[in-house]
Amino acid sequence: MKHIKIKELLQSKEFGKEFIIKGWVRTLRGNKNVSFIAINDGSIINNVQVVVDIPVFGEEYLKNVTTGACVKVRGILVRSQGQGQTVEVQAKEIFVYGSCDPETYPLQKKSHTLEYLRTIAHLRPRTNTFSAVLRIRHNMAFAIHKYFNDKGFFYLHTPIITASDCEGAGEMFRVSTLDINNLPKTQDGQIDFTQDFFGKETNLTVSGQLEGELGAMALSEVYTFGPTFRAENSNTPRHLAEFWMIEPEMAFYDLEDNMNLAQDFVQYLIKYALENCKDDLEFLNKMYDKELISRLGFVVNNDFERLTYTQAVDILIKSGEKFEFPISWGTDLQSEHERYLVEKHFKKPVILIDYPKEIKAFYMKQNPDGKTVRAMDVLFPKIGEIIGGSQREEDLQKLVNRINELKLPSKDIWWYLETRKFGTAPHSGFGLGFERLILFVTGMANIRDVIPFPRTPKNAEF
Ligand code: 4AD
Ligand code: MG
Repeated sequence: MKHIKIKELLQSKEFGKEFIIKGWVRTLRGNKNVSFIAINDGSIINNVQVVVDIPVFGEEYLKNVTTGACVKVRGILVRSQGQGQTVEVQAKEIFVYGSCDPETYPLQKKSHTLEYLRTIAHLRPRTNTFSAVLRIRHNMAFAIHKYFNDKGFFYLHTPIITASDCEGAGEMFRVSTLDINNLPKTQDGQIDFTQDFFGKETNLTVSGQLEGELGAMALSEVYTFGPTFRAENSNTPRHLAEFWMIEPEMAFYDLEDNMNLAQDFVQYLIKYALENCKDDLEFLNKMYDKELISRLGFVVNNDFERLTYTQAVDILIKSGEKFEFPISWGTDLQSEHERYLVEKHFKKPVILIDYPKEIKAFYMKQNPDGKTVRAMDVLFPKIGEIIGGSQREEDLQKLVNRINELKLPSKDIWWYLETRKFGTAPHSGFGLGFERLILFVTGMANIRDVIPFPRTPKNAEF
């Protein structure tokens, strides 16, 4: 007989029928006559209660059925007498796959801090909080592919190892097979990368955008969704060294089309979560953030505010607010500025456009004013920047001039420049930080708690 997932069992009405379930013991309680064992298999936030008639089995039988143990239970589905559940299982047989020492099991106690749980990331998926986050994460990944597939976008697999720096910020992890204790040198004393695996310097990608643009120049609408890596030493609740990014890239889109897509996309994903992750969201709403579900509903139902960087800076200067980082035209916005605009001023998500070219990447389309570029950042309550994107500079000469101004190594991206030479087209795209989306949807406060195994400075355990 095949076992049934607890999610399915809890919906079953086949009372009197025998089922097999498999999972991990969450709690145990009872007395001399009866034992109640709560079992969870991760398929749903709820446990199923197994009722064991002690006199029938004898006390010894349950000796190894302790919190954390992995068990198989064969039993009869019955209507529950107790509160809080409608069905339970009357045990006929319990088999212990893996016992669990109650003295040393790190999840023995009922509630732990999120900080402590980070130190046991190998076991934290067994808690209600992390299983809820991981199920939501799965659902969001699925919804992303569904959204783009339904719209006729193609999933383009961009490389993880590259020889270019899309954002030009130099925050890259080197990829090399050279012996670091015995590096080959050229005659003038430099490291000889022609002897490295790829015959040149390579790194983990910071963004799939450049290759995404190549795809858009043939398939019109593409997206990439993969891991990206940044060696920035940012120890904040919103930065990871390894994070996942969704990057759509579209031919024939101007910045306005790009903004419309970004808003529609994020609203779709949040609506999908509200409709498909109800139990988990209700749990997180109750335990962590009483406004979570109403905040999600608000974002789905309201247009994002759109204004220029220049207008935003005006608002910030006139606000009279004391910011840790002073603000003036030309400076990059800090998270405190972004959150002021979103949470205090507009009280809704905001899209800022037309940033100064000095604080944005080389590929952004230059505005006629010579000072700003067709950039867009989508700012969210509690998160700050959730999306960064732009219309791209499609004019070869303007692009080359900008690359030269910034003294970027254009020989590494000759292939990128050729798209501007051979049938260039207006096009746009953006990047949504997957973990920042999950932060918003789950209401969690720290990005380390929305990815199974976070990678941050000085931390690569698990
Ligand atoms: O604004 P960013 O750097 O933009 C790009 O990489 C563009 N190439 C995207 C594009 O146009 N195709 O990053 C995009 C998003 C940010 O808005 C943020 O949500 C997320 O990626 N992000 C991070 N998330 C977690 N940890 C980090 N260190 C992140 N850096 C960026
Ligand atoms: Mg950005």
